[in-house]
Amino acid sequence: MLRDACRNEQETMVVGRNIVHFERIDSTNTYLKRAALDGAAEGTVVIADAQTAGRGRLDRLFQSPVGKGLYLSVLLRPDLPPERLLSVTALAGVAACNAVERVCGVRPGMKWPNDLVLENRKLAGILTELVVLENGRLCVVIGIGINISQAAEDFSPDVAEIATSLQMALKHPVSREQLATTLIAELDRMYEALLQDCLLPYLTAYRQSCVNLGKTVQLIHPDGSREVAEAESIDEMFGLVVRTAGGMRTVRSGEVSVRGLYGYLE
Ligand code: BTN
Repeated sequence: MLRDACRNEQETMVVGRNIVHFERIDSTNTYLKRAALDGAAEGTVVIADAQTAGRGRLDRLFQSPVGKGLYLSVLLRPDLPPERLLSVTALAGVAACNAVERVCGVRPGMKWPNDLVLENRKLAGILTELVVLENGRLCVVIGIGINISQAAEDFSPDVAEIATSLQMALKHPVSREQLATTLIAELDRMYEALLQDCLLPYLTAYRQSCVNLGKTVQLIHPDGSREVAEAESIDEMFGLVVRTAGGMRTVRSGEVSVRGLYGYLE
């Protein structure tokens, strides 16, 4: 059970105590996974101005044009059992929504499990990867890509219909530096909540933000087969509870991909 009252008397500063910046890199996640094996410090953040091989879930490319987005990864070394790490992507999603809201005054929705959406379009994505160390322990690399100043023509034709940027939605520029600083602070707060098992505020926020709830969705299985379902709720481990022809079921991040009936959301 989630505890509903947690205290954090002490200021914490884990995420961002070491920040590495690249003008251009293949992928901040790929870099940080290698660095994790070489002993990089917990909380290390890698930010790039551009990625040449930015990666999304399900082996998709994450378009990362120079200076137009925030491309950031963070390394965590939580001393927690693997089941406590299942929620990390959703927690990072809430942290990213908090950061966008604090900087821009609008709160994105969450498309289960890992996309931030604004005006029914994808604003940001999160790719969480686990690294197994030689001693068998796990560390976590959370990569977040937020579209900031792209115009419609900056997206390739295959994503132009479903993608947006903060500038496209808000009609004014947004500071990448301010967003990065705020996101790092929110990820630090989120990590403390994970370590203290104080996740109720994050679960509540996720449930409020999840744009799939109450809608008909398609579950896309790894073999490509599709199944129609009603998205009913989010369980305590951030799984999506769905009603299918075969009955109620909970799907977990990584098991299936979710689409609307006719496209990205609807
Ligand atoms: C998705 O849309 O499925 C997830 C996209 C995650 C993109 C970020 S950008 C920073 C980090 N580096 C990567 O290669 N991917 C993540």
